[in-house]
Amino acid sequence: MEKYFLTTAIYYINDKPHLGSVSEVIAADVVARYQRKLGKSVLFSTGTDEHSQKVERSALALRQPVEQYTTEAAEAWKHLFDRLAISYSRFVRTTDADHIKVVQDMFQKLYDQGDIYKGSYEGWYCVKDEEFLLESDLVDGKCPHCGLEVQHVSEVNYFFRLSKYQDALLAWYERHPGFVQPSMRYNELVNVIRGGLRDISVSRSTVKWGIPVPFDPEQTVYVWFDALINYATVAGYGSSAFADTWPPDLHLIGKDITRFHGIIWPAMLMGLGLPLPRRIFAHGFWDFEGEKMSKSLGNVVDPSSLIDTLRRLIDIDEPVAVDALRYYLSREGTYGLDVDFSSQRLLLRFNTDLANDLGNLLNRTLNMFGRYRDIIRNSPIIPKPALGALFASMVTDIERDYDGLQFSAGLEKTWTLVNTLNKMIEDDKPWALAASGEADALAAHLGTLLTGLWYIGNLVEPCMPTVSSRLLRAIGRPQVTWDTLVWQGPGQELPEATSTVLFPRIRPEQLDEFLTAQKRQKTAAGPQPQAPPPAPSAEPERLISIDDFLKVHLRVATILEAERVPDTDKLIKLHVRVGTEHRTIVAGIGKHYEPDMLVGKQIVVVANLEPRKLKGIVSQGMLLAASIGDEMALLTPMTELADGADIH
Ligand code: MSP
Repeated sequence: MEKYFLTTAIYYINDKPHLGSVSEVIAADVVARYQRKLGKSVLFSTGTDEHSQKVERSALALRQPVEQYTTEAAEAWKHLFDRLAISYSRFVRTTDADHIKVVQDMFQKLYDQGDIYKGSYEGWYCVKDEEFLLESDLVDGKCPHCGLEVQHVSEVNYFFRLSKYQDALLAWYERHPGFVQPSMRYNELVNVIRGGLRDISVSRSTVKWGIPVPFDPEQTVYVWFDALINYATVAGYGSSAFADTWPPDLHLIGKDITRFHGIIWPAMLMGLGLPLPRRIFAHGFWDFEGEKMSKSLGNVVDPSSLIDTLRRLIDIDEPVAVDALRYYLSREGTYGLDVDFSSQRLLLRFNTDLANDLGNLLNRTLNMFGRYRDIIRNSPIIPKPALGALFASMVTDIERDYDGLQFSAGLEKTWTLVNTLNKMIEDDKPWALAASGEADALAAHLGTLLTGLWYIGNLVEPCMPTVSSRLLRAIGRPQVTWDTLVWQGPGQELPEATSTVLFPRIRPEQLDEFLTAQKRQKTAAGPQPQAPPPAPSAEPERLISIDDFLKVHLRVATILEAERVPDTDKLIKLHVRVGTEHRTIVAGIGKHYEPDMLVGKQIVVVANLEPRKLKGIVSQGMLLAASIGDEMALLTPMTELADGADIH
């Protein structure tokens, strides 16, 4: 069986997991499950990076022995990964005995052959990023990456001859254009190598919590040198299994640690005479309101609480909540670039893609099998040939997307199939076929739905393992590798279930409650706590008809001038253009916006509101703004439009 070996970065043990850090292990899990769907035997490793000064300090602050501290923290990471359905083969800890041995063996080998030598280091060190820095790297005297204070270090260390590998690395990059992806990261690293590489310090004399240098117990191995080697540990370095497993097919890492993986690690492997990894993919960051989610910024989203909130408010069970989160993380953005977390988008994806599109398709299909069972009893349940080619070619395209780690594109294509089937129901009008007794046509319709859902159930498996198995169980069709999907019917074996609600729809009031809960959580995590916004009103939503809605004429307007209305801090007078018309609007947004910020912006206005006088000024319309608690945001079109555009 063909093998596939992939790894995530290993996580600093003293950080609490957040949505950003777990997004990486979820993406890796999607790849691992996808590779299994191709029929490969997968070795998938993740784990924790446990040595270093900051870990020692964190344990000390809690007055715990460092071994106890790291063991408990590693358990917490592992527990979360299990909760997120991460199908890792090995959770490696850098305190594992086999890892310590591999690190010491490699250090010794490189020393024996002269690639590691004793020298003295004088310079800066960032404890958070565990990185040696040059004076010229610092920004305002601080770490260029995390912005925290740096330490001055002057000690005798062992150095690795990185400079020796500069030419070999460049040649490697030239011969392997796909070595580091996306290509912008490849180009960055080539530029760094071309700029010249210096030898790096790979031991510390002042850090006790580390792996001792085998021939000099006064020194411990530099935490990055130790951590990178985890990949060789999981492959069984030193055992007979190693040759079969090495090299990794994929190192999945974040864009902040490309130099370690794309320069130092390959040079170490060259020194050790080992093959280099086949591919390093550096993803972007999950941001919160435009900034990298990170503990030090206090803007992290806690994945555990997010799952708990989803479960509680939507009344779904844990594995479905986990799958919904995995779907959101995989579907938003282009993998490799930064993405901003938004709980609104998460819920929108839940309601539209999951509940409306996929959930409804399954439920409607099962309902029809229940209802029309007798009519189609003697007709063959065979899918219509016409759609077979579309499904087959989509599987090929989706494989290409997943091979390129473009999960969002792969899922988008999967949803093209979902919506092709939804549209087919509208076009075929099975209720009419049933009414006129067209049994064969109805059976072909249902056979197409069933076979299509069988494809879709298997296609969503890497991203949503539970949803996949529930869907396939409901239609009574097997989980298979993608190459064995064939466009043919199940014979006369019909699904037994007549209804399955995979995802209940989220109602608007639940949405409000969810957002409030999320906001409270963010507030609690943030560096400057604020009062939580008021609880949403418990009043039931009053429904309106589409005709009521159409009475409101919404249009895009451009703000040409803005000024405060005298003697009030709340009102701003706006001069707006709505197509060919000019209007004055008085808006109660003065506590949230300065007039200067507004000029040139596009907004949405209610164009057919009766004029009314505010502070003596006639306001000819109203603008739309969203607010929660004491925050407010004006609504604006996502891309600039000609003003006057109608909003439907
Ligand atoms: N311990 C090192 C890695 C050693 S690998 C031999 C480390 N740890 S980390 O905990 O800081 O980061 C682990 C991974 O999580 C990195 O790939 C990093 O890019 C990723 N992320 C951390 N915050 C992130 C986001 N906000 N968004 C996406 N991924 C991010 O570095």
